[in-house]
Amino acid sequence: MTVKNNTPQGPKGYPYIGNLLNLASSQGLDWLQSVSEKYGDVSKFRIIKRNMYLINHPDLVKEVLTHKMHNYSKRTYGFKIIRTVLGESIFTAMGDTWKRKRRLAQPYFHKKIIANLAQTMIDTIDDMRKEWATKEGKQPYIDVGDAMMRLTLTVVVRTLFSTSLTAKEVQTVADIFTPLLKGTNNRILYPIKFLYDLPLKRNIRYKENIEELDRIILGIIKKRRASGEKPMDLLQMLMDARDEESGLPLNDQELRDEAMTIFIAGHETTANAMTWLWVTLSQHPEIRSKIEEEVTEVLGARIPTAADFPKLSYTLKAFKEILRLCPPVPVIPRRVEQDDRIGDYFIERGSSILFSPYLLNRHPDFWDSPETFNPGRFDSNFQRRQHPFAYLPFGGGPRICIGNNFAMMEAVFIIAMVLQQFQLDLPPQTKVRPWFKLTYRPKGPVKMKLVKK
Ligand code: HEM
Repeated sequence: MTVKNNTPQGPKGYPYIGNLLNLASSQGLDWLQSVSEKYGDVSKFRIIKRNMYLINHPDLVKEVLTHKMHNYSKRTYGFKIIRTVLGESIFTAMGDTWKRKRRLAQPYFHKKIIANLAQTMIDTIDDMRKEWATKEGKQPYIDVGDAMMRLTLTVVVRTLFSTSLTAKEVQTVADIFTPLLKGTNNRILYPIKFLYDLPLKRNIRYKENIEELDRIILGIIKKRRASGEKPMDLLQMLMDARDEESGLPLNDQELRDEAMTIFIAGHETTANAMTWLWVTLSQHPEIRSKIEEEVTEVLGARIPTAADFPKLSYTLKAFKEILRLCPPVPVIPRRVEQDDRIGDYFIERGSSILFSPYLLNRHPDFWDSPETFNPGRFDSNFQRRQHPFAYLPFGGGPRICIGNNFAMMEAVFIIAMVLQQFQLDLPPQTKVRPWFKLTYRPKGPVKMKLVKK
């Protein structure tokens, strides 16, 4: 294909490393925002040897994620590193392999099936409330980030794998998750392979952390096989699946990769968004009161059921709005497989593109007062009018997050059930800083005051 040689502008960066330090810094998202403000909706910069194109217009991102998706693949260096943790799964696979995996798992994430999981979600959230009730007074401050991680992890394991982790396993995951994320992030941003092969303590620890997660996942699979039980859950569906051509089931490695992906993708993202939400509600008591009013009207003091989900519409809007301002996946990369044109620009084969839910979700041409936390903006009229690719917390096109309905239902029940009984307050003068890695979350522990109503 011949395309016009019109190159977008962008920051020059430093010799050799280009703009690596700008992107890798804790202010990396602000830097990306300043680049798109200065150079427009398509800009170009260099990270070490690779050219990167930042695409920040919903029309152009739609092209990349829909009819041109095969030209913008997950064959990036970042996904190669992620593959060393998740393996070849629905998240990392490409082409026909991905299509088969997606077709296999998709029915399980249908809204009707997710509704059947509501009761287990609700029971798990209720267990957390009971535990909080014993802490209240004795331990007035809780680490909300840690609490949300443990909760969403337990929800995923109970709903999709029909089992519970031991307290020790939950502790292990809680302890190793952040260093694992940091290690993976470093390996992507500073691709100096030999550094990670050196027998340094942190490299050994990184490998051990993956092995630790492996042990937990393989333990779940082994336990299921030994039990002889066949609950109607995602794990069983994966175990019962047969390849269309060979008729063979997934082997242990394939099963491990899919289960690991759901285990990881299915909890940290939701936990991050929930943690941002508690912080933000504490800073916007008027919006917290509006959610509380809805919760009182719909539920009073009773435990919800799946049928309550559609009635908690303002609560859902609050979650959508936090996903807009604090998207847990802030940046999405793709590799350019063949020369192409995006908008007016030539994009060469072998380069990478980036687009950012964080930037698109606050693009001033598509959002009024983009920095204001305003759940009311998600009324149905607005949602009908809004460009679907201007709001991308779950990505878009055929590879849109498979767990989006699951996450929204879970979050609505967490918000409603916590606010029925508790108030979480950030101590005055507390500054919560963001941690921008592969995911976007508050930096360090977020200690909030737990008050029983
Ligand atoms: C608020 C919570 C969540 C957010 C913000 C989120 C975000 C995302 C995003 C942005 C992608 C697309 C990545 C890309 O295109 O490169 C994605 C994919 C994916 N997510 Fe989520 N996710 C969330 C919750 C979940 C849950 C609860 C599950 C499973 C239970 C899940 C499983 C997956 C899987 C398997 C994929 C890969 C889909 C494919 O490529 O076909 N996610 N997620």
